[in-house]
Amino acid sequence: MLLSLTPMRRTIIILALVVFAAAQFKTVERINPPIESDLPAAPHVKSFLKRACYDCHSYETEWRWYSYVAPVSWVVARHVYNGRDVLNFSKWDSYSRGAKGRHLSDSILSMQDGTMPTWDYLIAHPSAKLSPEEVESFKEWANDYLNGSGNSAE
Ligand code: HEC
Repeated sequence: MLLSLTPMRRTIIILALVVFAAAQFKTVERINPPIESDLPAAPHVKSFLKRACYDCHSYETEWRWYSYVAPVSWVVARHVYNGRDVLNFSKWDSYSRGAKGRHLSDSILSMQDGTMPTWDYLIAHPSAKLSPEEVESFKEWANDYLNGSGNSAE
């Protein structure tokens, strides 16, 4: 197949393969530190948060096979480390009461306007999409939690 191409095209393809192979040497770290204090969500809420959010906002990331192939691995790792930086459900108790409230209300907004989970994540994980009922249960649980009944966790 390669032989039927013009020399120019052949060179481009070979160069692309060489660059791809070389890229594999720039590896990224895929680390899941121990969970410090998990978000105390009700089990039915926790199950869809794990499906839709925990890969990037917790220490329970499931590193899939494609997270081992550059350059996808670089993008995945950046999402996970940036996601954990802004919001980490695995260190929930390290947030102040005000920060917990902000994180939960931002989460509701991001679910409602569809910015979370991110669109590129949804291409790889279509089942991570939340149903309107799930968004509604999250809202109910978060309101109960912030209004006291769930605040025994503090
Ligand atoms: C593919 C990884 C990924 C997934 C999955 C994901 N997030 Fe994010 N999230 C990020 C990244 C990266 C940021 C920070 C950069 C940004 O704002 O885009 C972020 C930012 C946020 C923020 C902070 C926005 C702000 O106010 O600054 C909230 C809240 C949030 N995500 C909630 C969620 C919730 C809730 C889910 C699940 C429904 C979720 N995310 C799923 C990667 C992800």
